Amino acid sequence: KPIVLSGCQPSGQLTIGNYMGALKQWVSMQDDFECLYMLVDLHAITVRQDPKNLYEACLDGLALYLACGIDPDKSTLFVQSHVPEHAQLSWVLNCYAQMGELNRMTQFKDKSAKNMSNINVGLYAYPVLQAADILLYQADKVPVGEDQKQHLELTRDIATRFNNLYSGDVFTLPDPYIPEFGARIMSLQEPDRKMSKSDTNPNNFIGLLEEPKKLTKKIKRAVTDSDEQARIYFNPEEKPGVSNLLTLLSLATGKSIDALVPEYEDKMYGHLKGDVADAVVSLVEPIQQRFHTLRNDRAYLDSVMKDGAAKASEKAAVTLQKVYEAVGFIAKP
Ligand code: TYM
Repeated sequence: KPIVLSGCQPSGQLTIGNYMGALKQWVSMQDDFECLYMLVDLHAITVRQDPKNLYEACLDGLALYLACGIDPDKSTLFVQSHVPEHAQLSWVLNCYAQMGELNRMTQFKDKSAKNMSNINVGLYAYPVLQAADILLYQADKVPVGEDQKQHLELTRDIATRFNNLYSGDVFTLPDPYIPEFGARIMSLQEPDRKMSKSDTNPNNFIGLLEEPKKLTKKIKRAVTDSDEQARIYFNPEEKPGVSNLLTLLSLATGKSIDALVPEYEDKMYGHLKGDVADAVVSLVEPIQQRFHTLRNDRAYLDSVMKDGAAKASEKAAVTLQKVYEAVGFIAKP
């Protein structure tokens, strides 16, 4: 079976954007692929984290992956820092990534512009660690949202460079797997920006673990578009707010946009928002119920993390060995 790998950062709570862009695909790929899904705590500390919050967010993330339908009997579910090969391969790849390439990464540019007081080396090398995550497992497909496309291209460039230097077949070249629809869920208040879990304004995002009442309120307050005729149709350029709501409604109900739009011909923005809120609440409620049970079962979460790390390490060690040999390191006698 082809290999699938992906991960989310345990920084803050996961949003409906993370779900639509990534997790939903992760769940559906489990039967046809050999899947590895991780919580990237090493990546999370590239911005300052409160240790207690990071600890809790990692457990929350794990319980949420499970609650969304990641099945540890089918997929390998693990925490990045439990598999030391990620950091080890990352170091090697740092020596095969160019500063010029990293300077072009838009995520680095955005994040460093937002936080001038902590532009650390880890933030700069972030995409190289991501390349290590993917290449360690010889992943064929990487299910991610639109914003990760550039990091995937860099991963392929580094892998190609390495393969060309060392007789060709050390790394598999991974393909991004970006959903046609839902790969970029926008902010509720500023629909020309993507929804982000680290947004300082909580009214901008829909957290998967937020109380239904609060979710409903946020969605009802979402910015729509103030053209003269408050018409409801799908056009992300002209109507970013309304189009984002239609996207959410379509993904949450499984109805196509073409089927939905005529239903709102004579209706007001308020109707649409009410329906989006109802659909999102029915999507997250059962996830939240499963989450709370799982989150309280630390022994079970520990067993999942332990098994996942063991399975992942076994695979990762094979690639790391191959890489160490290729560059000329002496095997430990
Ligand atoms: P992160 O934690 O920012 O996001 C996790 C996943 O959610 C997707 N996503 C979205 N999709 C649609 N609409 C949105 N508004 C939205 N916001 C986020 C992201 O594209 C991502 O797929 N660098 C990665 C984590 C990572 C990784 C990896 C991913 C580390 N190593 C290896 C894949 C493979 C990140 O920060 O994701």
